[in-house]
Amino acid sequence: MIGKVALFSILAILIAIYFSGDALNSLYDDEEESGKPLMFTTESLSEFNGKISPKLYLSIMGLVFDVSKGMKHYGPGASYNFFIGKDTTRNFVDGNFECKQNCDDVTGLSSQELRSLMDWVKFYKNNYDEVGKLIGKYYDIEGNPTPYAKNIHKLIERALKEETEEDRLKLKYPGCNMEWNYEQGTHVWCTDQSGGIKRNWIGVPRKFFSPGAKDHRCACVREQDINSSNMKEYEGCDSKSTECFFKQ
Ligand code: HEM
Repeated sequence: MIGKVALFSILAILIAIYFSGDALNSLYDDEEESGKPLMFTTESLSEFNGKISPKLYLSIMGLVFDVSKGMKHYGPGASYNFFIGKDTTRNFVDGNFECKQNCDDVTGLSSQELRSLMDWVKFYKNNYDEVGKLIGKYYDIEGNPTPYAKNIHKLIERALKEETEEDRLKLKYPGCNMEWNYEQGTHVWCTDQSGGIKRNWIGVPRKFFSPGAKDHRCACVREQDINSSNMKEYEGCDSKSTECFFKQ
């Protein structure tokens, strides 16, 4: 049984690594497949707005997609028309649909936001046709990534690696079940499937301080790991109990 759990964990991590690499490669692969991409300027892209041209194009991280078949989302007056005819990369993660300037700039986004951005790039690659590249922040006139884009790609690569590390930690230290009510305060407890991780052990609740995280989360921890430096006991809770109560 331990063998099966370990095998499953390794498989999950390998899948995560495979797909994260895939996501980043997707920012480069088209030139290799089809030679020179069609290059858009800010002005030429702005014409694909469903009015000047009947087509609807949008750009994310400088990649231009034909989203005409998503007319109900992107057409004039539709909820996501904001994205049309321009590159508003940043607003795919900050949800600011009023953005007027530097909307393609992702400087300062967190690792999680950069990963979410890659999910959007994957979404467009999987669901719509990529028709070219936008000359500007991410690509030069030849369609080569700009120094800015290369720097962002490095940050994304790092963010994707962090995710695989987070996945590993989630399997090793699954989350606790949690409930709160006014009289009892917070109740945390471990079961053999808390945190969505089915396993052959239960563990005890501990405050887990993930490397780099600002705050702690409740993790179910096996005896062999309870003395690890990033674990802290819940005050007033028996160190061997599978549940703890605390006021918060
Ligand atoms: C950062 C915030 C958000 C962004 C950037 C965003 C973006 C989008 C985009 C681009 C689409 C169209 C996808 C396609 O091409 O098929 C979409 C669809 C959709 N969004 Fe959002 N969205 C956001 C927040 C929300 C929120 C808060 C809700 C719900 C309250 C929501 C509900 C939906 C629904 C229901 C659809 C699908 C509509 C359908 O299939 O008819 N979105 N979103």
